[in-house]
Amino acid sequence: MSFEEITPRPPAALWARGIVRSYGDQQVLRGVDFAAASGESVALTGPSGSGKTTLLHVLSGIAVPDAGEVVLAAAGRAPVAVAKAGAEERARLRRGTFGMVFQSGQLLAELTAVENVALPLLLEGRPAREAQAAAAAMFAPLGLDGLQERRPGELSGGQQQRVAIARALVPRPTVLFADEPTGALDRRTGEQVMGLLLDAQRATGVTLVVVTHDPEIAARCDRVVTLRDGAVR
Ligand SMILES: Nc1ncnc2c1ncn2[C@@H]1O[C@H](COP(=O)(O)OP(=O)(O)OP(=O)(O)O)[C@@H](O)[C@H]1O
Ligand SMILES: [Mg+2]
Repeated sequence: MSFEEITPRPPAALWARGIVRSYGDQQVLRGVDFAAASGESVALTGPSGSGKTTLLHVLSGIAVPDAGEVVLAAAGRAPVAVAKAGAEERARLRRGTFGMVFQSGQLLAELTAVENVALPLLLEGRPAREAQAAAAAMFAPLGLDGLQERRPGELSGGQQQRVAIARALVPRPTVLFADEPTGALDRRTGEQVMGLLLDAQRATGVTLVVVTHDPEIAARCDRVVTLRDGAVR
């Protein structure tokens, strides 16, 4: 089984215009414009505190901006106004359309690796056997063969991140968001995990937005976008 056999949903283009977001009287995003073409990998970089995570949350519908619009446009489907969608619709987008990978600590400790990966499909209401099979199929392409029954505590940091990537990809998202997915790993492991993430991205054609501090990792993406002083520079 390879990623090519795990057919993705048609990837989507994602764009945002004039995003403003404040916390109290601190304006973190001051009119950010952003676009990712369908199937493109975009690295989002910038100094600590520049608003990368805030922007990722706005793009993925976790947070709502004070102003501006976010639009998801997939071929053959009506565009979705993410920032204007209600809480319920945004939650639905995050369950199927958008995949998320964080820096660490996102796996459920009491579940095995394969149960963690199957979870999004079970939450979608898919039959348990089908969810388990789809989850298990993700292990070989991510170099995780033989680790299906381990619990997160029995996996290395790099292996845990690969399981998290599998879990994010298993519902066949149209856009995958990753917030410093290698930030908690040593350089060599981080490069390995990022390589697998990009392989998966290219094979499935999913649109990828990845926050990273690492210029070498950013350079491996199709395009680099830098946030500085609340805007894209
Ligand atoms: N929930 C919150 N409440 C108040 N302020 C916040 C909140 N989240 C973020 N901020 C502030 O907004 C600014 C941008 O934060 P954000 O997490 O988006 O930065 P970042 O670019 O992701 O930084 P890092 O590289 O350190 O992860 C920071 O000054 C931060 O303190
Ligand atoms: Mg951040």
